[in-house]
Amino acid sequence: MKTGSWIISVIFLLSPCVCGIDPAQINPLVYEEKLLWVSGVQGQVSAYRIPLITFTPKGSLLAFSEARKLSSNDVGAKFIALRRSTNKGNTWSPTAFIVDDEYRADGLNLGSVVVDEETGSIILIYSLCFHLYHCSPASTMMVESVDDGLSWSVPRNLSVQLGTKAFLAGPGFGIQKHLQPAKGRLVVCGHGTIEGDGVFCILSDDHGKSWYNGAALKSIPYNQPKKPLDFNPDECQPVELPDGSILINVRNQNNYHCRCRIVSRSLDGGLTLPMDELFFDTNLVDPVVAAGALQKDGVLYFSNPSHYQNRVNLTLRWSFTNGKSWENKAVQIWEGPSAYSCITSFNSGSVEDEKYIYAIYEKGHKDYWETISFVKIHLFGGQ
Ligand SMILES: *[C@@H]1O[C@H](CO)[C@@H](O)[C@H](O)[C@H]1NC(C)=O
Ligand SMILES: *[C@@H]1O[C@H](CO)[C@@H](O)[C@H](O)[C@H]1NC(C)=O
Repeated sequence: MKTGSWIISVIFLLSPCVCGIDPAQINPLVYEEKLLWVSGVQGQVSAYRIPLITFTPKGSLLAFSEARKLSSNDVGAKFIALRRSTNKGNTWSPTAFIVDDEYRADGLNLGSVVVDEETGSIILIYSLCFHLYHCSPASTMMVESVDDGLSWSVPRNLSVQLGTKAFLAGPGFGIQKHLQPAKGRLVVCGHGTIEGDGVFCILSDDHGKSWYNGAALKSIPYNQPKKPLDFNPDECQPVELPDGSILINVRNQNNYHCRCRIVSRSLDGGLTLPMDELFFDTNLVDPVVAAGALQKDGVLYFSNPSHYQNRVNLTLRWSFTNGKSWENKAVQIWEGPSAYSCITSFNSGSVEDEKYIYAIYEKGHKDYWETISFVKIHLFGGQ
């Protein structure tokens, strides 16, 4: 253990992307906040849920959510809503509905957004019929934008290549590997339906033209009904660490071992998730929810409603040890009802882009699904 941490510290110190950030400098401050969607007030939409946010290679921010038509349930008909900002979140375009499942009993679900920085394209992966409610089989679908999110391709059915196992990406972002192994690969991880649950990654080595099944971290018992406290890894967020491994922060659906996050790691670009690399992060107390994670300039950020039981207290934490330990100081973003969240940032290397991360989360006063809020966070306390 000691040797391991020593080696990791050396790698951390030598890593070029630490960019001179002194840990003492990190003092996150919520700099601006804006509600992007409000549930229950607009004609065709009952509720907005499952927020995703991404940077684009052209320097825009794209925010996505599920616009649930008839009720706030996970099952049911939906649009994918998109708002776009070309000025780092100061102003946002009106909502565009970029995908419409019409009136399916078990409509679309989000999903992961992944940016291919080599081609500039933005890929969004979502599911149809994920719950197998009055339909079969489930389908994994993809739409793509090559013009910075202004227009989107017609949906493509990836189940033709991947098979029809129910798979729901994210929710959050997928990654493009920046480092070896598998530099350039697109890695999108998600989960299965409750019985056949677990973390599964789908991979593309040709910029999203073809996809294949990669790592699987299966639930136990697999393909059988679950009991409380069974091992049931679920919704997840992958990030690439400075050593080229992929860390996946995972929802612990049945509270196996702890009321906290499962952390899994792939050393081969998403092909496998070895049991030796898995641990339970008891510092990341969690009420069973989808959480946000981001690796930026050698610092790992994590957001979730930090509470052992209820979806309240949305909190940002950060780690200088790739998630092996967390700084004691944490920043509360919202004390009240809050649930799913997603974090992004720009990697341009400019001084301005080093200062900020951008988060989106479900926020309410009485219930967490009341609104979807965007926050711009200054990492250095506004300095
Ligand atoms: C997607 O492809 C699979 C496999 O060919 C098929 O079973 C499924 O019906 C297709 N889904 C849609 C929405 O077309
Ligand atoms: C909110 O989260 C912080 C950080 O984990 C924790 O210290 C605090 O006790 C939490 N508050 C509540 C009300 O749970």
